[in-house]
Amino acid sequence: ATPPVKKIACIGAGYVGGPTMAVIALNSPDIEVVVVDINEERIKAWNSETLPIYEPGLDEVVKAARGRNLFFSTDTKKHVGEADIVFVSVNTPTKTTGIGAGKAADLTYWEGAARLIASVSTSSKIVVEKSTVPVKTAEAIGKVLKRNCSDPSVNFEILSNPEFLAEGTAIEDLQKPDRVLIGGVDTPSGQAAVAALKWVYNHWIPVERILTANLWSAELAKLTANAFLAQRISSINSISALCEASGANVQQVAHAIGTDTRIGNKFLSASVGFGGSCFQKDILNLCYVCETLGLREVADYWHAVVTMNDYQKQRFVERVIGSMFNTVSNKKIAIFGFAFKKDTGDTRETPAIDVCKGLVRDNAKVAVYDPKVTSEQIFRDMSTPKFEWDRPDYSRSHTRLLDNVQVCATPESAAEGAHAICVLTEWDCFKHYDYAAIYEKMTKPAFIFDGRNVLDHDKLREIGFITYALGKPL
Ligand code: NAD
Ligand code: UGA
Repeated sequence: ATPPVKKIACIGAGYVGGPTMAVIALNSPDIEVVVVDINEERIKAWNSETLPIYEPGLDEVVKAARGRNLFFSTDTKKHVGEADIVFVSVNTPTKTTGIGAGKAADLTYWEGAARLIASVSTSSKIVVEKSTVPVKTAEAIGKVLKRNCSDPSVNFEILSNPEFLAEGTAIEDLQKPDRVLIGGVDTPSGQAAVAALKWVYNHWIPVERILTANLWSAELAKLTANAFLAQRISSINSISALCEASGANVQQVAHAIGTDTRIGNKFLSASVGFGGSCFQKDILNLCYVCETLGLREVADYWHAVVTMNDYQKQRFVERVIGSMFNTVSNKKIAIFGFAFKKDTGDTRETPAIDVCKGLVRDNAKVAVYDPKVTSEQIFRDMSTPKFEWDRPDYSRSHTRLLDNVQVCATPESAAEGAHAICVLTEWDCFKHYDYAAIYEKMTKPAFIFDGRNVLDHDKLREIGFITYALGKPL
């Protein structure tokens, strides 16, 4: 029989589009997969030896499939035009201006992609929402597609197929997902589209792991999953504050509650705060959807997860400054880790930005070391205002911030002469440094603030460090 899908195109060659399509191509040699993007540099990088993102195992997957049935291209018109299935995996950031600024999802890129699909389509297509979007986006996108396609014989079926991969483990998550979720409408053509996408995933994922739902449930399940995950972190982080104040130890508390199988032991590591491009964005997006539907109490409930996260970052800064005799003015502070989590070079919404900015605001001189993040990226992050309405102050804060930020090539050079080390990412390599040698070259008293609880605190205290661990009394 003819396979239901011969060619897939994906609009958006980012953290999701690139790895997801590479894994589909790897497992489905009978399907041609082409990833397109408006960003020429990104496409060039996907076709080179140095891929645009760092993700363990990604190089191998791309090498195995690229040129065989996996391609990266800027020829959007051709590849989207020829595809049976078009995934849309463009960015959906938080709006920075206008109605819903700071909360609502900015669907400009999504709508741009939909208009593009409509304008180049001469055959019927399945359009898959891979980006994380507000509930009911498929309805709006459906209208854009239908009304902008000049060929009346062309039919678009829209599916919601949210992505649940986490950065740093993307390939593992894609190869062996807990589940794949496909939402579609309950019409014969809608269900045929669901079956076609199911057929694609079934190349390597057992059918019992491929869940189906209606469109709105699938869209909402993605926002809900991220809200629940982030809520766990904010919950344990709130308890970490109580632990520091009471003499309890947050790791012991987390272990004790995590052994209850109803609670489970994952995602209970207290931290300096969660980061990443999605948790905050998706919760704000969820809150905005609730507000627009008149569900103020529900919006407030979820918004507290973000408030607690901001509090945790601020609390960390206050603990550092408070313990260092209430002044960090002109003191060098080494920052170990800038990425939002280990095994990625991604810094989007990393807590390190807020912590470093908080320290610099108190005139500290931060010296950053991260094994994967480039100095250009760190300087860019430190000079970009969080919201666009910060702009009037922009040039002034920009120069002052950068005067006080140094990026170091080694952890030793970051710590040399420093009064303190702050661990902000849980990179494994941080566990294995020669802290006795590092201590020798620091200004005394030398402090360590472990914002991820990854170091051996007893050993550090033996060396002579004044050691603050998160959620543990001094
Ligand atoms: P990204 O910014 O890395 O990639 C998006 C890409 O889309 C960019 O390269 C951009 O140039 C391209 N693009 C935008 N408009 C385009 C257009 N009209 N035509 C062609 N290309 C266009 O973003 P990402 O991290 O891959 O996230 C994409 C979506 O997936 C978001 O909605 C996000 O919420 C969701 N998501 C992300 C993750 C993650 O771990 N990063 C996980 C699950 C879901
Ligand atoms: C998260 C979700 O885990 C994915 O399922 C989802 O697809 C993705 O968001 C998305 O929609 O973008 P990601 O942000 O890549 O993935 O990474 P996580 O492992 O979830 O970590 C997010 C943040 O929480 C990191 O800053 C991490 O350090 C922090 N974290 C995580 C904690 O502070 N404590 C924990 O116990 C776990």
